[in-house]
Amino acid sequence: MGHIEHLQSVFDLKKKAVADIGAGTGAFSLQLLECGARVSAVEIDPEKVARLMSKLPPEIRVLQGRAEALPLADRSQDLLCFFFSFHHVPMQVQDLALEENLRVLKPEGRLHVVEPFPYGSMFDVVRMVEDETEVRTNSHAIMERLDQAGGAFEAVGKTEYTLSRPYPDFETFLKQVVLVDPARSRVFEENRSAIEKRFEEALDRTPEGCFLHQPCAAYHFRKR
Ligand SMILES: C[S@@+](CC[C@H](N)C(=O)[O-])C[C@H]1O[C@@H](n2cnc3c(N)ncnc32)[C@H](O)[C@@H]1O
Repeated sequence: MGHIEHLQSVFDLKKKAVADIGAGTGAFSLQLLECGARVSAVEIDPEKVARLMSKLPPEIRVLQGRAEALPLADRSQDLLCFFFSFHHVPMQVQDLALEENLRVLKPEGRLHVVEPFPYGSMFDVVRMVEDETEVRTNSHAIMERLDQAGGAFEAVGKTEYTLSRPYPDFETFLKQVVLVDPARSRVFEENRSAIEKRFEEALDRTPEGCFLHQPCAAYHFRKR
């Protein structure tokens, strides 16, 4: 199961205004465009923003900004997506980010948050450079209680699935997951051999390729 494959099963993306918040490399922004959405890719990191601007097709609007101060107009979006990005928003401003979601969503607009669990072979390797147990646990707790009686978001559904990412070798993993973040690079330099050993142990080698797996939950809400 992929993020967009699942999203399409709960929401018709055609011609909808969709923002991909914490777009990263833009892989999912591109898939949203291919599904017929009108996409805005929002990313906090200026270097990633520059790469997104040079790599993505001009139909995708690339915006530098943060979830807690979205560079989007009031009531302008049909759908907001957070793919593995909500737990990166600092905990002290996550409430602000949810308020921003309400501000920019159209009435009846949707919020789709996919969060990784703090387990799985991908987590087992990544935790050696950055242990996200606390932030991931916190994000799932927020999503679980977002649909409270009288609250602004009504839960439409929660689906658990496993995202499998191909990593042909350790170098690819390093470039995609570790070296993109200066803080992770520093930790990596001190533990290279242990991290490589854990990677080799965790890698699922199949006839279709080598994968690390990340179980996750997709939470889908409607603005009340
Ligand atoms: C784990 S990456 C996920 C990237 C992409 N969504 C994916 O699934 O491949 C998290 C992304 O969120 C971005 N990010 C971190 N804090 C953010 C914030 N406050 N607002 C918006 N984006 C943020 C990071 O720069 C990073 O690109």
